[in-house]
Amino acid sequence: MATQTWCLCFTSLAFLFITCSSAEFLIQQVTEGRGTEYNRSYSLEADLGVTSILREERPSSKIVTITSFSVIKERYESYESSIFEASGYKWRLILYVKGKSNDGGSGHISLYVRIVETQSLPKGWEVNVDLKLFVHNPKQNKYLTVTDGTVKRFVDAKKEWGFGQLIPLSTFHNTSEGYIEEDTASFGAEIFIVKPAEQQEKVTFISNPPDNVFTWKILHFSTLQDRFYYSADFLVGDRYWRLGFNPKGNGGGRPYALPLFFYGQGFKPDAVATNTWGAVNLRLKNQLSTNHRQVHAAAWYPIRSGFNVGVNNIILLKDLNNATKGYLVNDAIIFEAEVVKVSVTNIVSA
Ligand SMILES: *[C@@H]1O[C@H](CO)[C@@H](O)[C@H](O)[C@H]1NC(C)=O
Ligand SMILES: *[C@@H]1O[C@H](CO)[C@@H](O)[C@H](O)[C@H]1NC(C)=O
Ligand SMILES: *[C@@H]1O[C@H](CO)[C@@H](O)[C@H](O)[C@H]1NC(C)=O
Repeated sequence: MATQTWCLCFTSLAFLFITCSSAEFLIQQVTEGRGTEYNRSYSLEADLGVTSILREERPSSKIVTITSFSVIKERYESYESSIFEASGYKWRLILYVKGKSNDGGSGHISLYVRIVETQSLPKGWEVNVDLKLFVHNPKQNKYLTVTDGTVKRFVDAKKEWGFGQLIPLSTFHNTSEGYIEEDTASFGAEIFIVKPAEQQEKVTFISNPPDNVFTWKILHFSTLQDRFYYSADFLVGDRYWRLGFNPKGNGGGRPYALPLFFYGQGFKPDAVATNTWGAVNLRLKNQLSTNHRQVHAAAWYPIRSGFNVGVNNIILLKDLNNATKGYLVNDAIIFEAEVVKVSVTNIVSA
């Protein structure tokens, strides 16, 4: 079969381009996050990767405010908060204002959360937590938010997690930093339970799916008007598709060439509606030989209906109208779409 490859029309290229750049934009948004990033480096391996940012929102699980801070600021004993509930479990906040020295906390504030009342939990219990600890900065009206990005696993043998080096005492007590105002300081915690996802979204690609060839015969070609004509929708994979063309030409192909486009349409009723990868061979059949006109087009089709990929020139009208060439026979033409690869999305157990 002699095939001829033609340029994809600009709409499809522009679409692919936009998809890439918006993905990049999203990733940047996420990594930038909110607040001001600080650089911290610790000698303790356990604290590698600890990050502190200033954020505006108050901690969601617990805030402890200590007035007359100067009274206790030289004490090595810890302050243990009252029991509070967060994410369905009971906790206490444990504060060392001179640092917990056996956890590398010398010269720092140390802050921990401890899970309590665990006797009511089933044997072998395990609570996985995304933990953030906070120091209020009243001067900036923000909260220094300390986290290290790892999931803290609370178990019977380890009920306490936190940061020995929450904040250096030199920073905390420096009045121009603004952590202590009117001899008052506040600390907080945010406890989110990390439960493994039970389901995942799986995108699979099917080569030559069943019923992947759709043939569309157009009769009385010479009587057609100057407008787009569309085929019936046909199902390949989880999605309906259709062909479309204007017999008088489209875009830069007007009025010399016959266009052909392939459209992503709706989804079958039980399908998971996502972007769909579609790779298709679009053909104008030669009715006298195997010398068909063909282009290959591949793209992510958006969830909405009507996005199309194709060409403004599947054949020049002068070749179409030349009877010896075999594309227009008895005033009829035949288009064909062969979907060679399609993606299907399923929700499966993780
Ligand atoms: C943090 O450290 C990196 C690498 O050492 C440096 O490029 C960056 O400018 C620092 N950021 C701040 C806010 O100091
Ligand atoms: C206190 O903090 C300010 C502002 O961050 C800084 O310029 C100053 O050097 C600090 N003072 C001491 C004693 O560390
Ligand atoms: C029609 O096509 C044939 C074969 O390709 C060619 O020889 C002939 O010149 C064409 N006729 C016209 C009118 O273009």
